[in-house]
Amino acid sequence: MDGPAAAGKTTTSLRLAERFGFSYLESGRAYRVLAYEALRSDIEPDDPSAMIELCARMVRNNLSVLLGLDRYDTGELRSAEVGRAVSLVARISELRLRVTNCLRAWAKGNSRSIVEGRDIGTVVFPAAPLKFYLTAKPETRAARRVAQENSGSYKQVLDDVLRRDHADMTRSVSPLKPAPDAIIIDTTDLTVDQVIDRMSAHCREAGLVEA
Ligand code: DC
Repeated sequence: MDGPAAAGKTTTSLRLAERFGFSYLESGRAYRVLAYEALRSDIEPDDPSAMIELCARMVRNNLSVLLGLDRYDTGELRSAEVGRAVSLVARISELRLRVTNCLRAWAKGNSRSIVEGRDIGTVVFPAAPLKFYLTAKPETRAARRVAQENSGSYKQVLDDVLRRDHADMTRSVSPLKPAPDAIIIDTTDLTVDQVIDRMSAHCREAGLVEA
């Protein structure tokens, strides 16, 4: 499941995972964990060698910590400070390679799973049998985020969505784009239930059975 920020990937992935009995992994958490730890340790988030060293240290300790499966509070990983740093972190190609390896290692033990991110269908799991690319107009994504989180003004949130779109889509390594075989769903005029129903139909067509 790929797509731009605030397109509804997490909400729909979780609902779909529940419906079909899949495990779920939010790959952005690994990049956020790295950005958070860099800020805490006074490491520049755009310093490739320091970031790679930090990542190697964390992976040696425990893969699930890097993946953000325990220990971290979602609020601290979603702070504005981490949000700014993570765009820099996600541009480091060697670091992306290491995160990709961790995601693949996790998936080995969770073969029936939904993984959410930006480059899942294009780079991390190019052979995934089913790929969704979820998108919506930036104004719609910002309005939904404001309603959901009840924080920040619409203008601030829209500026952040546009900044993140630019960073995700223009980065030279693994830029955000749909895989050639991805099913693209524009959710601008759809409710969550309608999105889930469309995705479920594709899952059933692919031979998956609801749990
Ligand atoms: O999905 P998110 O907003 O929590 O992602 C956080 C950051 O990580 C965002 O800047 C995009 C980046 N990211 C990425 O580059 N590749 C992924 N597979 C997932 C997230």
